[in-house]
Amino acid sequence: MLAKKMETALVNQVHEEMYSFYLYLAMAEYAAAEGLPGLQHWMRNQALEEFSHAVKFMNYIAEKGGKSELKALQAPPKAWKSAKQVFEEALKHEGHITECINNLVDLAYTLKDHATVNFLNWFVGEQVEEEAAAKAVIDMINLTGNAPGGMFMIDRELAARPAAPNPYNPTPAA
Ligand SMILES: [Fe+2]
Ligand SMILES: [Fe+2]
Repeated sequence: MLAKKMETALVNQVHEEMYSFYLYLAMAEYAAAEGLPGLQHWMRNQALEEFSHAVKFMNYIAEKGGKSELKALQAPPKAWKSAKQVFEEALKHEGHITECINNLVDLAYTLKDHATVNFLNWFVGEQVEEEAAAKAVIDMINLTGNAPGGMFMIDRELAARPAAPNPYNPTPAA
Protein backbone atom coordinates (compact mmCIF):
# COMPACT_ATOMS: atom_id res chain seq x y z
CA MET A 1 0.00 0.00 0.00
CA LEU A 2 1.06 3.54 -0.72
CA ALA A 3 0.77 6.27 1.89
CA LYS A 4 -2.02 8.63 0.81
CA LYS A 5 0.48 11.48 0.51
CA MET A 6 2.72 9.38 -1.74
CA GLU A 7 -0.21 8.24 -3.88
CA THR A 8 -1.41 11.82 -4.39
CA ALA A 9 2.09 12.96 -5.36
CA LEU A 10 2.51 10.07 -7.84
CA VAL A 11 -0.90 10.79 -9.38
CA ASN A 12 0.21 14.41 -9.83
CA GLN A 13 3.23 13.12 -11.70
CA VAL A 14 0.94 11.20 -14.08
CA HIS A 15 -0.51 14.61 -14.89
CA GLU A 16 2.95 16.18 -15.34
CA GLU A 17 3.91 13.41 -17.77
CA MET A 18 0.63 13.79 -19.67
CA TYR A 19 1.23 17.53 -19.95
CA SER A 20 4.74 16.76 -21.25
CA PHE A 21 3.09 14.49 -23.85
CA TYR A 22 0.77 17.33 -24.84
CA LEU A 23 3.56 19.93 -24.96
CA TYR A 24 5.75 17.83 -27.27
CA LEU A 25 2.77 17.01 -29.45
CA ALA A 26 2.18 20.78 -29.84
CA MET A 27 5.86 21.22 -30.71
CA ALA A 28 5.47 18.50 -33.36
CA GLU A 29 2.53 20.39 -34.88
CA TYR A 30 4.60 23.59 -34.93
CA ALA A 31 7.39 21.69 -36.71
CA ALA A 32 4.98 20.33 -39.32
CA ALA A 33 3.67 23.83 -40.02
CA GLU A 34 7.26 25.13 -40.36
CA GLY A 35 8.19 22.44 -42.88
CA LEU A 36 10.50 20.58 -40.50
CA PRO A 37 9.46 16.90 -40.80
CA GLY A 38 12.52 15.68 -38.88
CA LEU A 39 11.65 17.87 -35.93
CA GLN A 40 8.02 16.73 -36.16
CA HIS A 41 9.16 13.09 -36.06
CA TRP A 42 11.52 13.78 -33.11
CA MET A 43 8.82 15.55 -31.12
CA ARG A 44 6.12 12.96 -31.85
CA ASN A 45 8.42 10.26 -30.57
CA GLN A 46 9.30 12.39 -27.56
CA ALA A 47 5.56 12.80 -26.90
CA LEU A 48 5.11 9.01 -27.08
CA GLU A 49 7.95 8.58 -24.59
CA GLU A 50 6.20 10.96 -22.20
CA PHE A 51 2.98 9.00 -22.60
CA SER A 52 4.93 5.86 -21.71
CA HIS A 53 6.20 7.64 -18.57
CA ALA A 54 2.60 8.42 -17.57
CA VAL A 55 1.69 4.75 -18.15
CA LYS A 56 4.69 3.65 -16.05
CA PHE A 57 3.44 5.79 -13.14
CA MET A 58 -0.15 4.55 -13.57
CA ASN A 59 1.04 0.93 -13.60
CA TYR A 60 3.08 1.42 -10.43
CA ILE A 61 0.26 3.18 -8.60
CA ALA A 62 -2.13 0.35 -9.56
CA GLU A 63 0.41 -2.29 -8.55
CA LYS A 64 0.57 -0.70 -5.10
CA GLY A 65 -3.21 -0.78 -4.77
CA GLY A 66 -3.78 2.89 -5.66
CA LYS A 67 -5.70 4.56 -8.44
CA SER A 68 -4.81 7.32 -10.90
CA GLU A 69 -7.38 10.01 -11.41
CA LEU A 70 -6.88 11.82 -14.69
CA LYS A 71 -7.12 15.59 -14.63
CA ALA A 72 -7.88 18.14 -17.35
CA LEU A 73 -4.86 19.14 -19.40
CA GLN A 74 -3.93 22.76 -19.89
CA ALA A 75 -3.51 23.83 -23.52
CA PRO A 76 0.18 24.00 -24.46
CA PRO A 77 1.63 26.97 -26.39
CA LYS A 78 0.86 26.96 -30.13
CA ALA A 79 3.92 28.63 -31.59
CA TRP A 80 7.59 29.25 -30.98
CA LYS A 81 10.03 31.67 -32.60
CA SER A 82 12.39 29.04 -33.95
CA ALA A 83 13.47 25.42 -33.66
CA LYS A 84 16.14 26.59 -31.24
CA GLN A 85 13.53 28.17 -29.01
CA VAL A 86 11.53 24.93 -29.13
CA PHE A 87 14.49 23.04 -27.68
CA GLU A 88 15.25 25.77 -25.15
CA GLU A 89 11.67 25.44 -23.91
CA ALA A 90 11.97 21.65 -23.94
CA LEU A 91 15.15 21.87 -21.82
CA LYS A 92 13.45 24.25 -19.40
CA HIS A 93 10.47 21.91 -19.15
CA GLU A 94 12.71 18.90 -18.51
CA GLY A 95 14.42 20.87 -15.74
CA HIS A 96 11.00 21.32 -14.16
CA ILE A 97 10.27 17.59 -14.48
CA THR A 98 13.64 16.75 -12.90
CA GLU A 99 12.64 18.92 -9.96
CA CYS A 100 9.29 17.09 -9.71
CA ILE A 101 11.07 13.70 -9.69
CA ASN A 102 13.56 14.89 -7.06
CA ASN A 103 10.68 16.07 -4.85
CA LEU A 104 9.01 12.65 -5.24
CA VAL A 105 12.24 10.91 -4.20
CA ASP A 106 12.53 13.24 -1.18
CA LEU A 107 8.97 12.40 -0.15
CA ALA A 108 9.53 8.65 -0.60
CA TYR A 109 12.62 8.86 1.64
CA THR A 110 10.72 10.84 4.26
CA LEU A 111 8.03 8.13 4.27
CA LYS A 112 10.71 5.38 4.32
CA ASP A 113 9.00 4.04 1.18
CA HIS A 114 11.93 2.14 -0.32
CA ALA A 115 9.88 0.46 -3.06
CA THR A 116 8.88 3.87 -4.40
CA VAL A 117 12.46 5.17 -4.12
CA ASN A 118 13.52 2.15 -6.18
CA PHE A 119 10.76 2.78 -8.75
CA LEU A 120 11.66 6.47 -9.00
CA ASN A 121 15.36 5.78 -9.51
CA TRP A 122 14.65 4.84 -13.12
CA PHE A 123 13.22 8.33 -13.64
CA VAL A 124 16.23 9.96 -11.96
CA GLY A 125 18.42 8.40 -14.64
CA GLU A 126 15.92 9.10 -17.40
CA GLN A 127 15.88 12.81 -16.55
CA VAL A 128 19.66 13.02 -17.03
CA GLU A 129 19.11 11.64 -20.55
CA GLU A 130 16.12 13.91 -21.25
CA GLU A 131 18.02 17.07 -20.37
CA ALA A 132 21.12 15.91 -22.28
CA ALA A 133 19.04 15.14 -25.40
CA ALA A 134 17.51 18.62 -25.54
CA LYS A 135 20.86 20.26 -24.84
CA ALA A 136 22.56 18.23 -27.58
CA VAL A 137 20.15 19.64 -30.19
CA ILE A 138 20.64 23.20 -28.91
CA ASP A 139 24.42 22.68 -29.22
CA MET A 140 23.94 21.38 -32.77
CA ILE A 141 21.87 24.43 -33.71
CA ASN A 142 24.46 26.75 -32.13
CA LEU A 143 27.26 25.03 -34.04
CA THR A 144 25.66 25.66 -37.42
CA GLY A 145 24.84 29.24 -36.45
CA ASN A 146 22.85 30.77 -39.27
CA ALA A 147 24.74 28.89 -41.95
CA PRO A 148 22.62 28.37 -45.08
CA GLY A 149 21.13 24.89 -45.07
CA GLY A 150 22.05 24.43 -41.40
CA MET A 151 18.52 23.78 -40.25
CA PHE A 152 17.95 21.47 -43.22
CA MET A 153 20.89 19.33 -42.07
CA ILE A 154 19.73 19.34 -38.45
CA ASP A 155 16.22 18.37 -39.51
CA ARG A 156 17.65 15.34 -41.32
CA GLU A 157 19.56 14.45 -38.16
CA LEU A 158 16.37 14.70 -36.06
CA ALA A 159 14.54 12.46 -38.56
CA ALA A 160 16.97 9.65 -37.65
CA ARG A 161 15.66 9.33 -34.09
CA PRO A 162 14.49 5.73 -33.56
CA ALA A 163 10.74 5.27 -33.15
CA ALA A 164 9.53 5.10 -29.55
CA PRO A 165 8.31 1.66 -28.42
CA ASN A 166 4.65 0.92 -27.80
CA PRO A 167 3.90 2.68 -24.47
CA TYR A 168 1.71 -0.21 -23.32
CA ASN A 169 4.35 -2.79 -24.14
CA PRO A 170 7.68 -0.98 -23.92
CA THR A 171 9.88 -4.10 -23.91
CA PRO A 172 8.46 -6.59 -26.44
CA ALA A 173 10.35 -9.85 -26.84
CA ALA A 174 12.97 -9.58 -29.60
FE1 LIG B 1 8.80 12.18 -18.71
FE1 LIG C 1 10.72 14.14 -20.54
